[in-house]
Parts: sequence; structure tokens; C-alpha cells
Amino acid sequence: MEFKEEEISFRKFINDFPSTTYATFALYGYPAKFIPQVIAFILKNYGKPGMSIFDPFAGYGTAGVVARIYGFNYELWDLNPLLELFHEVATSKPVELDIKNVIQRMRMSREEFVPKWNRQEYWFHKDFLPLLYKVWGFWHSLDDNYTKLLTVIPLLKVTRYFSYDDLQRQKLSKSPKSMNRIRKLLEEDWENIFFSMLEDETRNIYNRLLQYQSLNPKPVKHVVKGGVDSLKEELSEERDILITSPPYLQSHEYIRHFKLELFWLGYSDEDLKRLLDLEIPYRDVNRISVYSETYHRCRNMIHEPHLLKMFDNYLWAILGCLSRLQEKITSYIFVFVGRPSMRGRQIPVDRMIAEHLALFGWKHERTLVDAIVARRMFSYAVNPATKIRDQRTKTENLVILKRI
Ligand SMILES: C[S@@+](CC[C@H](N)C(=O)[O-])C[C@H]1O[C@@H](n2cnc3c(N)ncnc32)[C@H](O)[C@@H]1O
Repeated sequence: MEFKEEEISFRKFINDFPSTTYATFALYGYPAKFIPQVIAFILKNYGKPGMSIFDPFAGYGTAGVVARIYGFNYELWDLNPLLELFHEVATSKPVELDIKNVIQRMRMSREEFVPKWNRQEYWFHKDFLPLLYKVWGFWHSLDDNYTKLLTVIPLLKVTRYFSYDDLQRQKLSKSPKSMNRIRKLLEEDWENIFFSMLEDETRNIYNRLLQYQSLNPKPVKHVVKGGVDSLKEELSEERDILITSPPYLQSHEYIRHFKLELFWLGYSDEDLKRLLDLEIPYRDVNRISVYSETYHRCRNMIHEPHLLKMFDNYLWAILGCLSRLQEKITSYIFVFVGRPSMRGRQIPVDRMIAEHLALFGWKHERTLVDAIVARRMFSYAVNPATKIRDQRTKTENLVILKRI
């Protein structure tokens, strides 16, 4: 199969936004998030008025945030329940709010919320817990949805700052540096620091909501489902364009990464366990027939049983999911993937997708290769599964397939 590749820099090609993190494109850190320019590129070059888009691995929900600006209806899914919350905040209309007053009420609140999990003191110093119970108690007791939306991301951010997590890492983890941060905080007037950070963050969110409105989002129809398994979920209706960036082969463990957030928002240990068991690529999936020569060639080169299992589970999940979902896609499929390596061998997932979907009536138009510049990728320095050093993913490829 001829495989047309072209180099591109989406950041340089699309000038509609001043930066990748402008407005509400990145209100909260989300590993391997789309940069808005990728979605804008697709919609401007391939979208036609009235078309709708669908992202089954929507993460933070960037595809939807950008789709509104260009007036496209959309449907988003993700296993991570935070998708719904992040997306609602990112697209909500700002309303004047007396932020000082909200913070004051929070300070005085007598409400209490204790998360349903027993490892609280592993992640938070015990002196901080009463304050956290109070502020989250206040948040959970709020009737006004807008105040809840405006304050939730600031609360999540400051709560994480007050945890033992090393904020520089892409993985929830303690480190000497983060322990030191907490030690220092404890010596300071930490309660005032907490509320003043919260106030600044809330203003920041408000300003970003204003910036988003300045991009003139349209009142489009949308469906957003968090906490769903894309290997099983059914599309509510046909969609014209599928745009997605599925989990990576040596992917981030998203649910584990967001567990502090999920607990404070009210999810229990059991909820988390259910989600963890469904996460790609850390779950076993049923074998499927793979119609990709590249897949079989790569597979024949893997001899270690545990690597073979990881390879198969990953590709059966991604290819199985795409071949099922494509049935309801009418025009284009865009998949944004890296080329990971396994024991030094490159795994061209983009080619495998193009070859496999060819059998379902999809023609490979071209693959656009974007060199990753500023984005922090999260292939670990040492792969936890193989215990050997990973080569970092250096490029990301946008596979473009057209329905024939
Ligand atoms: C590369 S990220 C997508 C990031 C997204 N493009 C954005 O802009 O934020 C891959 C996503 O796949 C999700 N995921 C993993 N297993 C899943 C499953 N079984 N069903 C649905 N989503 C899943 C993860 O939660 C993660 O958000």
C-alpha cells in the first residue's frame, strides 16, 4: 500500500488562536491533549457546513471546544468522567460573580465532605484535611451551578498543590521535591495561601471564559459522555467526521492519574476500580482479525510473551474500536497517533490503522507528520512494563482516511 506522508506544523499553519493554551483550551492539565490547532486544521480544510464530528477518546474535550468555534455539532466520549465537567466549564458563558464573596462564604462554611477513600493521609498531610473537607463540603452543597462550575477547576488545582503529588511529573507520584513543598507550606500561613490561590485561579478561569466568548462559539448540538467504555458504547446517530487521539501503546494511566480529583468530586474506590479495569491498553480484549500487513510484520518480530500480549491487547482494542465505530461515520476519519517503540523497534500504529480500515471502505488520503515541539509527552523514561528505557515518541501523525 502506497503511504503518502507530508510534514506539517499545525501551530504554524493555523493562526486563529494566539497560543495552544489560549482561552479555555487548557484549563486543566490533561496528558497528550490535542492542541486546538489540529482540530481547527481539520475543520477548516475538510469540514462542510452542517457536518458533525465525533471523538470517542475525547479526554479534556478539545475537539468539542474547538468545534463550537467553527459551528460544528459534536459527540464526545471518554472513560474518564472528568470529560463532562471539564467540557462544561470550558464552554460555559461567563456571568459576573462576586468572587471575593464566594471565597468568604467558603471560608466560613460549616459543611463537610469526606471523600470515600481510605488513603487520604498518604496523599495529604493530616493538618490540611479539615480545610479540604470544609471547602469541598461547601462546593458539594452549592445550589448554583454556575458558581460550582467557576470554582471547581480552581479547587482541583489548589487541592493538588496541597497534596504530596509532584506537579512537574505527568504521573501522580510523590517525590522528595513535592514532600519539601508541603514541608515549607506547613511552616507558612497555609490557610491564607490556600484561599488566595483559589481566588486567583477563579479569576483566571473567569477571564479565560471571556476569551473563549471572544472566539465567538456557536450554539451547536452536542452529546458529551464521560465514564463510558468506547469499546462498547453505541453512537447516538451517524456522524460525518471521526477525529480522535486514542490512548498510546505505552500510555498514561489516566484514571490513576486523576484519582485525587475523582475522589474529591465524590467517586468511590469501587467506581475507580470499575474504570481502571476498562482502561486501554491495560485491559484484556478479545482477539480480532487484523487486516494490516504492517501489524503482522511487527508482531512476528516480538518474541517476549508479555510484550506480545501488550501489543495485541493494544491493537485489538484500537483497531476493533475503530472498525466498529466507522460503520456510522459517513465522510472522514482522522486519527492522531505517535509511533511508539518496543525494545527499540518502531511500531507504526498510523499505518496499521490505514491498512486495517482499507478493508472497511476507507481510502488513505495522506498522513501529516507533526514534530512535537512544546508538548510534554509522557512515555516514561523507564517503561514500567518492560523495565527498559523508552525511546521518546518524537512525532505525531495525523492519519487521514476518506470514505469511498
Ligand atoms: C490521548 S488521550 C485523548 C486526549 C484528547 N484528544 C484531548 O484533547 O484531551 C486518550 C484518552 O483515551 C481514554 N480512554 C482509555 N481507555 C478508554 C476506553 N476504554 N473508553 C473510552 N476512553 C478511553 C483516556 O481516558 C484518555 O482520555
